[in-house]
Amino acid sequence: MQPELPIVMGHRGAPSIAPENTLLGFTACFQAGARWTETDVCLIGDGTPVIFHDSTLDRCTDQSGSVADIDCADLSRINANQAFPEQGFQSIPTLRQALVHFEALGMGINLELKRHDHVAPEALVEAVGNVFKTSDFPAGQLMLSSFDFDALRLAREAFPTATLAVIAENLDADVLDVAAELKASAVNLWWETLSFDQVRQARAKGLLVNIWTANQPEKVASMIEWGVTSLMSDCPQLFQA
Ligand code: G3P
Ligand code: MG
Repeated sequence: MQPELPIVMGHRGAPSIAPENTLLGFTACFQAGARWTETDVCLIGDGTPVIFHDSTLDRCTDQSGSVADIDCADLSRINANQAFPEQGFQSIPTLRQALVHFEALGMGINLELKRHDHVAPEALVEAVGNVFKTSDFPAGQLMLSSFDFDALRLAREAFPTATLAVIAENLDADVLDVAAELKASAVNLWWETLSFDQVRQARAKGLLVNIWTANQPEKVASMIEWGVTSLMSDCPQLFQA
């Protein structure tokens, strides 16, 4: 199934104006006009899937150390808003909490499966799958993506009809091979090395091309003319015109 993607998605929400990968940040992203966002899911120590990018707490929270060393019970005491103190305490959302929030907003998500070193791909995909099995999040509002080919293969087994995207810096041959093997809908590529030829090759294989992380409208405008479907931005507010 080919998803209906908007031209502009948030990237971790709208981290230029609100804390990344938080419920508040997703609301800010929606209010900035983006109807989809990219976001990251990883596992903490007790196997709970949470919305968080890094393998450590150091950059985004008021704590330090590995995400492998925290459990669900710790989430309520960790402040995931270091960038915008005036916006107050924000916890790391569980995937389940985030799905409820996205559904209430009517937002679609490009959910990046982030496999940190302490987690096997099987554990990540199983835990994420268990959340979706007990959620009524609309399939048409979800795209699962990853840099990790093993995680994507397991995701295809667990979600036979899901929309998948292969993330890569460059459109190397193995990326196109995996996309074909997994019947992926899209390749999510790094805009800085993107060429017209890469877009042409991917589109010729029936793939959508989405780009990350596009924060300067003038630098990516021509890529939309090349055939890029959607761009992920830290600054969705800059792209609405
Ligand atoms: O999903 C694309 C993009 O988010 C990949 O890089 O490090 O921002 O998750 P990163
Ligand atoms: Mg990401």
